Amino acid sequence: MRAGQSGKRGAAVGLLLSMLLAGCGAEDTVQAPAGAGQGVPTDAKLAQLYGASCKQCHANPAAGAPLTGDVQAWAPRLEKGMDTLLDHSINGFQGMPPLGLCMQCGEADFRALIEFMAAAPQPAEGR
Ligand code: HEC
Repeated sequence: MRAGQSGKRGAAVGLLLSMLLAGCGAEDTVQAPAGAGQGVPTDAKLAQLYGASCKQCHANPAAGAPLTGDVQAWAPRLEKGMDTLLDHSINGFQGMPPLGLCMQCGEADFRALIEFMAAAPQPAEGR
């Protein structure tokens, strides 16, 4: 569970949580853009928060969420501005549940998680 290791951390937790998340458990039959949904934050704490919440939907093409690292999917979202995206993360927005199901995430965490997901995949992560 340290920064800079393989992208496998959080997989067990994620698997468990995904079984609990109705609506997010669909199998990946949809094609995702190359590299989308694969990355993990390099910061250990952020990686843990991400793996336990956002990842369940934002790395799952069937969830209907903009995928992590899918810059094109995030571009129109980013145009709304970080304040709006923060508001939507905290209060929910359509299929996006309030707090992204991350009860222990603070505002700074949400900001960092959004920036991480909206950025292009890191070449260092698992490729
Ligand atoms: C249960 C599934 C689920 C989880 C967990 C989840 N999201 Fe989402 N998220 C979605 C879906 C679905 C959308 C697309 C909503 C839409 O546009 O209809 C979305 C959209 C978003 C958006 C864009 C909102 C906008 O205004 O366009 C942001 C930002 C976001 N999520 C952040 C997060 C963060 C940060 C986390 C983790 C703390 C997280 N999400 C966890 C399902 C989820």
